Amino acid sequence: MINNYNISEVVEEIKHSLKVLQDSGWKGFDCSDSKLDTLDSWNTKTGVLKDTLQNIFNGLGKCDRCKLAQNRTNIVFGVGNPDARLIFIGEGPGSEEDKQGEPFVGAAGQLLSKIIQAMNLSRDQVYICNIIKCRPPGNRNPEPVEIKACMPYLVRQIDAVSPDYICTLGSVAARSLLGTAEYISRLRGRFHEYKGIKVMPTYHPAYLLRNPEKKRDVWEDMKILMKEMGL
Ligand code: URA
Repeated sequence: MINNYNISEVVEEIKHSLKVLQDSGWKGFDCSDSKLDTLDSWNTKTGVLKDTLQNIFNGLGKCDRCKLAQNRTNIVFGVGNPDARLIFIGEGPGSEEDKQGEPFVGAAGQLLSKIIQAMNLSRDQVYICNIIKCRPPGNRNPEPVEIKACMPYLVRQIDAVSPDYICTLGSVAARSLLGTAEYISRLRGRFHEYKGIKVMPTYHPAYLLRNPEKKRDVWEDMKILMKEMGL
């Protein structure tokens, strides 16, 4: 097993070699200062080269891995506490999110903020992101090929934040993360597991805006989550 000392040394060696290439005017690949800086964000203390949210965001660049790139204004990456115990995962950006580049800032987002507050948490304490990072035209459901293209980045975000709990919002988020075709009405209200993380699926806040009588179910789900989290 590689120990901490060795990893630190390896990172320093890589940095040194890239600096030498940079100084020599090498153009074979990007060895600019910003690329060298990303090496500093690798966490060498744990003995693991830990991915960071900044690295993942940088890796997206001007993403054109699916056709949603054509109509988007902003990539909507994620927001909140990079060390959050709880991640909320929605479906994909709507028009307000696309404009502002931040998840859940429109009408559904305001309702999500209220749910978070009712749990005695703030938006800053949790992490909020989506299954896909670009707005589908007319807010249609994301296509499987779009979800497939975006999923590796969400997987890395979850790994980087390393939460104890995930709350998926709506059927697309629950199905995509848990790899099931089950109805949300059957998934919600109990814990599932994703890579050892406890996952509570619940209804999407946009669905609650159209069906306010379902708010009671969501609150039941959040109470189970809060109890498990010791809130
Ligand atoms: N709906 C979502 O699923 N995500 C957002 O960010 C906004 C609305």
